[in-house]
Amino acid sequence: MGIARCSFSISNRPCRIRRAGRADLPGIYEIETQSFKDPYPREVLENLLSLYPYGFFVAEGDGRLLGYVIVRLIKGRGHVIALAVAGSHRRRGIGSSLLARGLEELRRRGAGSVWLEVRASNVTAQRFYLSQGFERLATISNYYDDLEDAVIYTMPLLS
Ligand SMILES: CC(C)(COP(=O)(O)OP(=O)(O)OC[C@H]1O[C@@H](n2cnc3c(N)ncnc32)[C@H](O)[C@@H]1OP(=O)(O)O)[C@@H](O)C(=O)NCCC(=O)NCCS
Repeated sequence: MGIARCSFSISNRPCRIRRAGRADLPGIYEIETQSFKDPYPREVLENLLSLYPYGFFVAEGDGRLLGYVIVRLIKGRGHVIALAVAGSHRRRGIGSSLLARGLEELRRRGAGSVWLEVRASNVTAQRFYLSQGFERLATISNYYDDLEDAVIYTMPLLS
């Protein structure tokens, strides 16, 4: 297991989703820095890969990395730690395909539900998660280092 298809192709070549490896870290870091105003430092991404190798996936196509997702299981619940797609390749189904792969892994490992936090100002991500079946649960004030609020989204994971 390991390689799955995205829900789309690029230049008629399929985009693939597979588990991340250490060699992917530079490409992941590049997407991370493009995507977030407070990107994880390289060492944090490296630690996340060591801690959650089962839940760290990348999408590749066009001969390069196009996105990644990190999920983990905590006490029977799934958590989406991070999800990002290269700016030039958004809105083509890569985010949905990555999320689906992460959720599949969580289900397989027995997660009954999944949750995530997103910046209150990140309207695009919130629209994305709503489109994927998540529901808004609550807001946590001053959650981020710059004191922006986080919005919590959840979804049951039916097997
Ligand atoms: C959020 C993100 C991962 C979505 O990835 P993506 O590959 O563009 O998403 P998809 O193409 O699979 O989109 C699926 C659906 O989400 C919704 N959606 C995605 N981007 C949207 C946007 N900019 N505006 C409105 N709806 C949007 C749409 O319903 C879309 O379906 P459609 O294109 O058929 O209308 C991507 O925008 C991203 O990397 N953002 C920066 C990082 C980030 O904010 N990550 C999440 C933080 S927790």
